[in-house]
Amino acid sequence: MKEEKPEPKVLVTRELLPEAMEFLRDRAKVEVGAVGRDLGREELLAKIADKTGVLSMLTDVIDREVLDRAPGLKIIANCAVGTNNIDVPQARSRGILVTNTPGVLTETTAELALALILAVLRRLPQADRFTREKKFKGWALDQWLGKDLRGARLGIIGFGRIGRAVALRATAFGAEVVYHDPQRVPPDIERFYKTAYLPLDELLKTSDIVTIHAGLSAATHHLLSKERLALMKKEAVLINAARGPIVDEKALAEALAEGRLWGAGLDVYEREPEVEEKLLSLDNVVLLPHIGSATYATRLKMAMTAARNLIQGVYGARPDNLVF
Ligand code: DGY
Repeated sequence: MKEEKPEPKVLVTRELLPEAMEFLRDRAKVEVGAVGRDLGREELLAKIADKTGVLSMLTDVIDREVLDRAPGLKIIANCAVGTNNIDVPQARSRGILVTNTPGVLTETTAELALALILAVLRRLPQADRFTREKKFKGWALDQWLGKDLRGARLGIIGFGRIGRAVALRATAFGAEVVYHDPQRVPPDIERFYKTAYLPLDELLKTSDIVTIHAGLSAATHHLLSKERLALMKKEAVLINAARGPIVDEKALAEALAEGRLWGAGLDVYEREPEVEEKLLSLDNVVLLPHIGSATYATRLKMAMTAARNLIQGVYGARPDNLVF
């Protein structure tokens, strides 16, 4: 009689949505690291030891020490498009595949960026608080005056999938869109997105709104340094729904507190989930808890994409979304 091969053992660091869990349990021996919370470092080190695959969250730091503990690991399937939480070169040097979830969260994240832009320009959370506190005593011509997106220059840093989706939406609102990216896109793409390339400093000096859609790497860490923030117009707004460490958060808080910037909208932070203390007391910043891709449909697509990548990897097939 032919012996059945044992199912591969995989670790899902934090429980996924039910459909994705079912998909995985039908195909592998699944251990769920944690439910309703992040998996602790020590727990990760212990639980990964006997696994062939791990489905990780963007909050799990997968570095050399973790990889040392997992001699049989074949694949790290990250449930995010960003993979800055993983030492990718180290994994690849050990023959471990790394995958991400590109494409499925583009529009959802772009919508959030637009929501954040509008929330900052029109001071929506502040106005909501004002109304709840029963301070609304009637319409007044000079009350809660914000800024228009129409006619504003929107500078997009990082012109990949999400940056482009933001460009399309902002153009529909009547904004003038410019972009910066290390790789300038061909002229026909610029025409399609009705946008023009600018060197970074030029974009910062001339934009009314700057929105970041770049990945985090050594090259983009503190790209928006104190010096670069100082280039921005005093009336300008900064939006970050990409990765926190791209902005020097302390310098940003100081610029906002001193009125050297009009406002900011942040979905991500330098030391998540910690938020720079000073930002919490400022009224010209809108703060969100990293919800860029947070719709049920999109988070399910992310989980299913990561789950499929994981299964492909543990069974020796080439996963759909390999990161190099
Ligand atoms: C990602 O996929 O990198 C996003 O930050 C998740 O919201």
